[in-house]
Amino acid sequence: MTLTRRIVLTSGKGGVGKTTVTANLGAQLSRMGYRVLVCDTDIGLNNVDVVMGVEHLIVYDIVDAIEGRCRPKQALVQHTYFKNLYILSSNHSMPDRYISPQAVKLIIDALAPQFDFVLIDCPAGIEDGFHRAVSSAEEALIVTTPHMSSLRDADKVISVLQSYRLANINLVINMARGDMMMNGDILSPREICDILKIPLIGMIPEDDSIFLNDMSGENNRAFRLLASNIIEGRHKIYDVTKKYSGIFGSIRRSLKKSL
Ligand SMILES: Nc1ncnc2c1ncn2[C@@H]1O[C@H](COP(=O)(O)OP(=O)(O)O)[C@@H](O)[C@H]1O
Ligand SMILES: [Mg+2]
Repeated sequence: MTLTRRIVLTSGKGGVGKTTVTANLGAQLSRMGYRVLVCDTDIGLNNVDVVMGVEHLIVYDIVDAIEGRCRPKQALVQHTYFKNLYILSSNHSMPDRYISPQAVKLIIDALAPQFDFVLIDCPAGIEDGFHRAVSSAEEALIVTTPHMSSLRDADKVISVLQSYRLANINLVINMARGDMMMNGDILSPREICDILKIPLIGMIPEDDSIFLNDMSGENNRAFRLLASNIIEGRHKIYDVTKKYSGIFGSIRRSLKKSL
């Protein structure tokens, strides 16, 4: 029997890329042959299914499973392209229903043994929804952007997480602009880690063409590195500044600046 790793992706602040990182990390892990379940615990504000392009396939959701209208397994949707990737969507039918953390955990406990990874996409804030998502997890990935407002919320989340006894808490910096980092316009990874005091495990460049089935490109490489770091317990970080160094890089940088 394999030991399932249950990882919550959280940030405090909304719009920093939790759902994007959850979906892409899930896709990468499944491409590597792992069985992955992505759970959307943002009850009333589902979007994992939309980002993953499976919203038209959903028959039952997590609330149906909790309230006994279906078995937990029936609420899973297999991704159309990544066959090892399954989605447990949040509810569509009853947006205001209160769902307890214990109820979510029962469903995840029932499903987890069939998977190598359970990735839990957490809603913004540190209220009910946060508690619901984190209670089913054993590890956490904090997603932040290199901006102060996002770091402040990440810091708050990290201190709240101390009471959950998680096995490990790692940091993913999303929407990193290599050119701005080189120019000193945004905080460097070192500065960010000095502030948050948790280990960096991934860095994802800002990329307007970020979408799930894009098999080429920088983001794909960055997500692949994040996935193998998680598997192997390494901390090799994708260098977002690389394409801006050297002679061609500095041309690229000044072109980007003049945009
Ligand atoms: N690395 C990135 N580069 C460019 N856009 C991104 C990146 N990550 C996320 N986004 C975009 O930012 C927006 C918010 O992302 P989302 O994953 O929904 O955030 P959250 O789940 O934290 O609220 C989306 O429009 C998404 O496409
Ligand atoms: Mg989200």
